[in-house]
Amino acid sequence: MSKLWGGRFAKGTDALVHEFNASLRFDMRLAEQDIAGSKAWAQGLVGAGVLTQPEADTIIAGLGEVEEELANGRFQFDPTDEDIHTAVERRLTEIVGAVGGKLHTGRSRNDQVATDFRLWLLGACDQVAAWLTDLQQALIESAEANLNLPMPGYTHLQHAQPVTWGHWILSHFWPLTRDQERLGQVRQRTAVLPLGSGALAGTAFPVDRQALADALGFVAISQNSLDGVSDRDFAADFLYMATMIGLHLSRLSEQLVLFSSSEFGFVRLDDGYSTGSSLMPQKKNPDTLELTRGKSGRILGNLVGLLTTLKGLPSSYDKDLQEDKEPVFDAFDTLSHTLPIMAGLLRTLTLRPERMAQQLEPSLLSTDLADYLVKQGVPFRRAHHLVGEVVQLAENRGVPLTALTLTDLKTVSELFGEGATAVFNIPSSLSSRSATGGTAPEALQAQLNAAKQVVSG
Ligand code: ARG
Repeated sequence: MSKLWGGRFAKGTDALVHEFNASLRFDMRLAEQDIAGSKAWAQGLVGAGVLTQPEADTIIAGLGEVEEELANGRFQFDPTDEDIHTAVERRLTEIVGAVGGKLHTGRSRNDQVATDFRLWLLGACDQVAAWLTDLQQALIESAEANLNLPMPGYTHLQHAQPVTWGHWILSHFWPLTRDQERLGQVRQRTAVLPLGSGALAGTAFPVDRQALADALGFVAISQNSLDGVSDRDFAADFLYMATMIGLHLSRLSEQLVLFSSSEFGFVRLDDGYSTGSSLMPQKKNPDTLELTRGKSGRILGNLVGLLTTLKGLPSSYDKDLQEDKEPVFDAFDTLSHTLPIMAGLLRTLTLRPERMAQQLEPSLLSTDLADYLVKQGVPFRRAHHLVGEVVQLAENRGVPLTALTLTDLKTVSELFGEGATAVFNIPSSLSSRSATGGTAPEALQAQLNAAKQVVSG
């Protein structure tokens, strides 16, 4: 097999080694970016006095043809093609002849692949941002439709205090806002152009790297050629950001799996977002949520895999770096499913307020009873203890808190007065938490408005 780098080799590559070495199978995804980078480089070589403008025009037109062949599936890959870079250059030279061989002047696949990958990732970041925004929008719609619908709130998965659907669903909105911020940072670190770093030591031709950056939409250029070819922080940053999205979706999934169970029954999944059992006719399974939860592990695996690859490497290019792309592509592909599916699932979700109401039992208001005593001047620690005794009294009698009379309460403490039993009221409990972030209707409305602002932002 003849390779683009074959000059110093007396014999061809072993077939299995060729297959092992080749990355075409997955870096074909960088075709569009490879061609864009090559067009910019050809123009850069004119500025550097390497190519005449007509030569560059010929090369750029030839690259346009290669691009078309790739886009419409007419491109014929050759068994000698090692990666997308060699495939494009080979085909270019077939189309334009010997002048095609001038394109690689002053450039290496090392700065080329780093450039292509960054360009691809910039596009991927835009996609992920759009999917995230749509999911945030779906959460807002769900919150708005049932902003003040009471439901039990949990800590340790035990009944804690009443919250509302809007409050709960927006608790899944803000993590995604932080993911958006992380995404912005990934974008910023990715938009640094390594082209012009050569193999490791820079390029010997006076190419205007800033002009290349401008042409390709990068906001800065790398300052050290060794770092330029070896920096994959942006890929790790992307995977960390993707892992956090995965984790946030997993948490939402886990909660919806619980809420859709017969025991909770707070929500019903749309048929389009659930599946049946091959054996049990009655089953409606939350597979989409379970898969979303499961795939979060896969994204984390991609992050750990890449970090492990990077950890032992010196600066400059090493072939280990070829292992950078698949985990990133896989994380992106996973998000391309989980994010839009979660948005669709939320938009078709049915709530069951009657099931939530059944679970709104009086013990959820124990803190409110303690707060009542606090308002009578009792220190909170003491109030907490007294209400604990009230709870015990009710438990010993096997009745709910609301079955206790004022006389019963007074056996625990004389400090319980007329208004004490009035705290057993869900709406007033919700309304009392009016500080920013709380359950009161005006606090929830303010939160919803803030969320909308973030999304329209
Ligand atoms: N396919 C390679 C990669 O993805 C391109 C760079 C190859 N460079 C080299 N010196 N062999 O990393």
